[in-house]
Amino acid sequence: MRVERLTGVIGAEVRDLDIEKELTGPAINDVVAELVAALDEHLVIVFREQSLSPGEQTEFTHYFGQPCATPFVKTLEDFPEVIKVLKEADEGAAFNFGGAWHSDFSFMEGPPSYTLLHAIDVPSAGGDTCWTSNIAALDQLSPDVRAVIDQPGVNGIHTAKDAYSPKMQALHDGLKHMDIRTTEDANDVRAHPMITTHPGNGKAVLFFNQAYCRDLEGADIEPARGAEFLRGLHHHSTAHQFTVRHRWRNGDLAIWDNRATQHLALNDYAGTRRELHRTTVQGGVPAR
Ligand code: SIN
Repeated sequence: MRVERLTGVIGAEVRDLDIEKELTGPAINDVVAELVAALDEHLVIVFREQSLSPGEQTEFTHYFGQPCATPFVKTLEDFPEVIKVLKEADEGAAFNFGGAWHSDFSFMEGPPSYTLLHAIDVPSAGGDTCWTSNIAALDQLSPDVRAVIDQPGVNGIHTAKDAYSPKMQALHDGLKHMDIRTTEDANDVRAHPMITTHPGNGKAVLFFNQAYCRDLEGADIEPARGAEFLRGLHHHSTAHQFTVRHRWRNGDLAIWDNRATQHLALNDYAGTRRELHRTTVQGGVPAR
């Protein structure tokens, strides 16, 4: 396989690899070890022209670790680890799944380490996915802002309350072909360090995404400034110089390191069908 950078900061394309073929070959463990090394370096890797059934995607995902539980979103009946991310052409333009910068399920005790997203039927234009590097964003954080969070005991408070609590049900009901069930559990909160150490590459990571990290604890700033501080982190960490954008074609597969990135599904494809299949790998508890 060949691994070619997509930007100077984040993302690479893996060429000359047929995953379906590798799945039945003798070298699959070596292939996955190379992909994990590429992920440690580039955080997001994309492959063109793959063809994985939900069963094959599930099988491939297992080579990266245990499957992660999928709260709130109903998975495929026969493939309980696969979410069908689907918006039909005749659905409203107002809302899409994953349409705000986030890391998958960072409110869990052990959020996913990796997410795999396979394009089944995507628009010929629009519906791109963007990712940002939370390693590069931390590296380039101004020293005074970094000083606020770079202390033991400073935690981000992660919660799904503004995404999956019952007050959000009407929004999800707009997605007629996804079954998203909000519950009161979404109001639970989980403290994770604001700066973590990546278990694969040893780099320091800004463990933050605006969708789920809704508060700070242990920081030496006035409580009244907390929301403004987090807004600043959001704007900084999603600045274009830390990002890569993928224009999907049917058959593409992307794998990203969910511990060190945020992502965003662009909602600019009204009138066109978009279907992708998503699986996630169980990660460890984020730690400094
Ligand atoms: C997601 O947020 O997991 C979905 C991303 C996408 O549909 O591009």
